[in-house]
Amino acid sequence: RRAPPCTFVVFGGGGDLTKRLLVPAIYNLACAGLLDDRFSIVAVDWAELSDEILRAQFHEALRDFVAKRGTSATMLRDDVWRWLDGRISYLRGSFEEMETFERLGARVGDGNAVFYMAVAARFFGPIVDHLGQAGLTNEAGGTYRRVIVEKPFGHDLDSARELNTRLLATLRERQIYRIDHYLGKETVQNIMALRFSNGFFEPLWNRQNIDHVQITAAETVGVEKRGRFYEGTGALRDMVPNHLMQLLAMTAMEAPVSFDADAVRDEKSKVLKATHCAAPEDVVRGQYGAGSIGGVPVRGYREEPDVAPDSRTETYVAMKLNIDNWRWAGVPFYLRTGKRLAVRKTEIAIHFRHAPYALFRDTPVERLTPNIMTLHIQPTEGVTMQFGAKIPGPTVRLGGVRMKFDYSEWFAEGPSTGYETLIYDCLAGDATLFQRADNIEAGWRAVQPALDWSERAEAAPLCPYAAGSTGPAEADALLARDGRSWQSLTD
Ligand code: BG6
Repeated sequence: RRAPPCTFVVFGGGGDLTKRLLVPAIYNLACAGLLDDRFSIVAVDWAELSDEILRAQFHEALRDFVAKRGTSATMLRDDVWRWLDGRISYLRGSFEEMETFERLGARVGDGNAVFYMAVAARFFGPIVDHLGQAGLTNEAGGTYRRVIVEKPFGHDLDSARELNTRLLATLRERQIYRIDHYLGKETVQNIMALRFSNGFFEPLWNRQNIDHVQITAAETVGVEKRGRFYEGTGALRDMVPNHLMQLLAMTAMEAPVSFDADAVRDEKSKVLKATHCAAPEDVVRGQYGAGSIGGVPVRGYREEPDVAPDSRTETYVAMKLNIDNWRWAGVPFYLRTGKRLAVRKTEIAIHFRHAPYALFRDTPVERLTPNIMTLHIQPTEGVTMQFGAKIPGPTVRLGGVRMKFDYSEWFAEGPSTGYETLIYDCLAGDATLFQRADNIEAGWRAVQPALDWSERAEAAPLCPYAAGSTGPAEADALLARDGRSWQSLTD
């Protein structure tokens, strides 16, 4: 079904995010015939650009995208590009001057509009204030006005609250679409489908049957050109309150009463409010030193551009979280994420309890193959179940086996940057995959103690690890303390 007509305004329209992700996503939506004929894009930025230059840049970005990874087609569709090309315009101006917004008003007219913040976080507040003052957020005569905000949404609980208050002074909650791009990933959305469209997982999904859960988001990339941003951010802020908390919430939430945006977000909020980190020893912070990735030598974090030579910013964090509710009491959720690790891998591993009693003489209970269900988010997409089976032969011997569902084997590849769903949903007014104010705050609240501890050097040692390794040894010790170990990163 086509989305309603809309002027899609991108603040930061000349920037990297727009070219790398937004334009390809809009192109894919256009290919799928999901955009209305009255759809248009207005890119707002302060660079010296013209309509023609911007269109040429978008065209180039799209060609790159299609050639490199984007779609099953290997050629950019000319008919779609021509359709899009005529709908792109540029508006040069400062995000902090009223005059920009007055000119923007003339472009937007009185139809539907989405305002996308592809800008540094310090502009979120000023842009929304100006949109309000220019009357651009008024939804008159049945039209809609929506604002999409990218992360970072604050840098701690207090600043996230302040930002919510500031946005809510101009906008209603239902006009604000806070993006977490993890929710655009098919495999993340599939967690809900898996849990709530099948009968046999949910009865096992609780403290009676699950021993613990491991959530991993390992990256091979370093900080690239983002040294300045990353220095003030670190792995904990960059990945945990948002992406990893979303994965945790999807895994741990109760079944919503419906798939309405608020029903889903109520459940996420509840589980995040029950989630907390108990003690400084439950957090491990690491920083990569020089090493090698795939045989190529790479420098250490402190040698990266725009990074202080004595930086104490963490590029890795592992933590143990508890969820204080009836379903999860006593079941730890271990999270880890880091840059410059041996592999790129995002997954959620649900470790089930052992069988209560082992009938097999030679294999005591603790040596039975652990029952693990792994939800592979990226780069492999699918689900694996690990369990024990009899090894063929005259004697009874047990071995571990795996059963695997692979997305790409079952479903034809759908072209996706992850942003297609999110943009389409916003145009259509479905906020299910966006974060409500209380969800964002609950994510920050859960990690706030860890942020506070990390400011006290003695409470938060920084553990070195070599680029290309599986992370600091202290992260292994965090689980070993509880008699557990991480899933192998490199398997
Ligand atoms: C971003 C972080 O939000 O997510 C980056 O700022 C990180 O540091 C990225 O690399 C990871 O996203 P993905 O989709 O590659 O897992």
